[in-house]
Amino acid sequence: MAKGKTATIFYCQSCGYESSKWMGQCPGCREWNTFVEEVVSRSDLKGTGTQRRSGEKEKPCILSEVPVLKEDRVLTGIGELDRVLGGGIVQGSMTLVGGDPGIGKSTLLLQVCRNLAEKGHRVLYISGEESKVQIKMRADRIGTFSRYMALLCETDLDIIEEVIRQEKPEMVVIDSIQTMYRGEVSAAPGSVSQVRESTGVLMQLAKGLGVSVFIVGHVTKEGTVAGPRVLEHMVDTVLYFEGDRYASYRILRGVKNRFGSTNEIGVFEMQDQGLAEVQNPSEYMLSGRPEDASGSVAACTMEGTRPILVEIQALVCRSNFGIPRRQATGTDFNRVNLLMAVLEKRSGMALSDCDAYVNITGGIRIQEPAVDLGIVLAVISSFRNRAIGPKLAAFGEVGLSGEVRGVSMAKLRVAEAQKLGFDTCIVPMVCVEECRKIKGIKVIGVKNVQEAMDFLG
Ligand code: TYD
Ligand code: MG
Repeated sequence: MAKGKTATIFYCQSCGYESSKWMGQCPGCREWNTFVEEVVSRSDLKGTGTQRRSGEKEKPCILSEVPVLKEDRVLTGIGELDRVLGGGIVQGSMTLVGGDPGIGKSTLLLQVCRNLAEKGHRVLYISGEESKVQIKMRADRIGTFSRYMALLCETDLDIIEEVIRQEKPEMVVIDSIQTMYRGEVSAAPGSVSQVRESTGVLMQLAKGLGVSVFIVGHVTKEGTVAGPRVLEHMVDTVLYFEGDRYASYRILRGVKNRFGSTNEIGVFEMQDQGLAEVQNPSEYMLSGRPEDASGSVAACTMEGTRPILVEIQALVCRSNFGIPRRQATGTDFNRVNLLMAVLEKRSGMALSDCDAYVNITGGIRIQEPAVDLGIVLAVISSFRNRAIGPKLAAFGEVGLSGEVRGVSMAKLRVAEAQKLGFDTCIVPMVCVEECRKIKGIKVIGVKNVQEAMDFLG
């Protein structure tokens, strides 16, 4: 087709899946109603920002002979963020910070900029969302900024590219990628093709000039702008900010990291002067726990290499309807159903005509099977209407035969419980040996759910 002609392409706003026709459900991410039509000129389709170098051809080389470069990392001065990044910002890397609007992405990145500028690194904060005055007002709440921090309110990527090439900052923040556009691409800002193209341009700058780039991406449920998932595969690191925007805690989770582990989380609290680190998440997650209420159990989980104690609450009551209601917050609903079926079958508790609500407090989401035993104990406690002591913690995976299976890093979990003043910990029998080494806490090994029930009496 002749150059300059346009084509109509349908993109999934959630994951960027491309299709020549409209579809109700995206085959890529299984979301419904996410396809939107975008008119793009043929020349846009040739790739994202990167033109292929012609001439010289890359030859295969021997892996063991590739020279090793020491990663150049810069600490952000925010310990929780450094941990999630895998030990600071890697020079020339590209990081996507996603999350719901208003969760604190701009605030966190402004704080990072402040810390780096203070240490003498040149940073450039580019905002397409707020005016200079608005940013200044926010910055004043966070603290004082050194001369190394520059601000640019711009959405045209060609201008941004020029500025970055001229100023050569060490770090650039793009807030947000959905407001940026490139004149050459005909689609509107926030559309899948614009967002991809913009990221491609920034990627070239990051790799070419060795600038570390942070991109803010809003997660949108309505699908009016392309979500950050569209770019997950392009960037080096993907971090998501989670938490209830009406509560003060925030959890920063690594979803993808080319330079570190993705299991780490950072816990923050939104305060008057910006985000504050929460050094001891367990204490935070357990604060306000009722002392002698039935249906409440402390469970030890691991987030990456860090043990965190959470409170699991269950409310089991007789159902008024034919089909009992089950609900799970902070954990997998199907898992809760399965554990209740195991309890019913293996220990003879009549749960099938009971409503059950299970909640992990503190706004954290836990997928780890090690919380199984905690969920089971919380359900038992609520069913019997008898409190489990406030100084008892538990962990272990529960299998379909009601057996309690071993989990990794048992010793770390028990040590965390001991540190927080728990005096008893119920653990899987296979983990007992390693846990007994920890002084000051009674370790009870159980082989199955029945044994755990017997222990509670
Ligand atoms: P913001 O960083 O603007 O969110 P995002 O960039 O993810 O959209 O966060 C804004 C919210 O945080 C806003 O509702 C106000 C609140 N906030 C505080 O509570 N304290 C503060 O010091 C700051 C800067 C913001
Ligand atoms: Mg913002």
